[in-house]
Amino acid sequence: MTEGVRLEWDGKHTAQIEFSPLPVLHVVEKIGTQDATAPNRLIQGDNLAVMSALLGELRGKIDLIYLDPPFFTGREWKAREAAPNEPSAFTDSWRTLGNYLQWLFDRLTLARDLLSETGCLYLHLSWHSVHYAKLLLDEIFGVERFQNEIVWCYREAINSKKRWNRKHDTLLFYTNSDVFTFNPDPVREPYSESSIRKFRHADEKGKYRLMGRGIVGSPLRSKRDVAPEMETLSPELTFRHYLGAGTLPLDYWFIDIENQASPLRTGYPTQKPEALLERILLASTNPGDLVADFCCGSGTTLAVANRLDRRWIGCDLGDLAITTSRSRLIASTAAHFRLETLIGNNLK
Ligand SMILES: C[S@@+](CC[C@H](N)C(=O)[O-])C[C@H]1O[C@@H](n2cnc3c(N)ncnc32)[C@H](O)[C@@H]1O
Repeated sequence: MTEGVRLEWDGKHTAQIEFSPLPVLHVVEKIGTQDATAPNRLIQGDNLAVMSALLGELRGKIDLIYLDPPFFTGREWKAREAAPNEPSAFTDSWRTLGNYLQWLFDRLTLARDLLSETGCLYLHLSWHSVHYAKLLLDEIFGVERFQNEIVWCYREAINSKKRWNRKHDTLLFYTNSDVFTFNPDPVREPYSESSIRKFRHADEKGKYRLMGRGIVGSPLRSKRDVAPEMETLSPELTFRHYLGAGTLPLDYWFIDIENQASPLRTGYPTQKPEALLERILLASTNPGDLVADFCCGSGTTLAVANRLDRRWIGCDLGDLAITTSRSRLIASTAAHFRLETLIGNNLK
């Protein structure tokens, strides 16, 4: 337990942000046919005010929140191939680390309140801030709600001789309770070649290894790769262990970024690969579940949710993020959504 252990910074405040009727979400545009009772929504506005405005209707109703916020890099992020005079897509510079942590703390608190009892949160960060964020999440969700630290490894140009090249991000996975969706089967990892080679026999059901049953007193007890004649002689002591769909998933993933050759590359800086979001959504949601991304950038989470028949809400502050997400969603076959914007930014 971390009772009594807290991360402090100058000016820290933890007062609950209450639902305020003042921020109003205004429908700008409807695209595709809408399910009026549960429309998918792309919302432009500061996510603090948007999440707060959504509390009124969605407190405890979102099944999965994926947050890929600014990482505390101190950088201006411009669109790839942007001209020097083009404005940044978004700014990731902060007066102090405390400033950044307060920003994160407020949004994570609202995320917890929006999540359903069985809801899942994935917070995507890097070495810049993830170690602080772990303590924030322990304080907000409770350390016992921490499920995984997932390491996403990717390949990119190697550029440092000074230290180990930093080529992974970290995702912190928390849940709102002990009961939550986790579907390991659609995200099983392929077997290695050497594992597959161990399945030396095959029948009409597929490849298999011949194993000894765990029967006390059996000479074949729990033996692997028993000689085939033993199956004929003592079938009750053996069984066929078939090659399955892959191994159970691990907490480190090798997934390529959407590089220049990828048709999914939008040009938005910091775009995450669809394969990464697909893994998260397949494991932690079911079709029809409600998924939200309040830093949606180029709309990766929304495009994947659309494709996998999950309902979704996306939010971002930036113009480039909203236009990129909008065209990406329109281009995807099942894009039924409302574009909304936040009117009035007042929070209590
Ligand atoms: C790391 S990027 C997200 C990239 C996204 N996951 C993708 O695949 O394209 C972070 C995003 O957070 C957005 N953002 C920063 N501050 C915000 C705020 N206060 N409200 C809403 N969005 C914000 C930025 O505009 C940026 O698009």
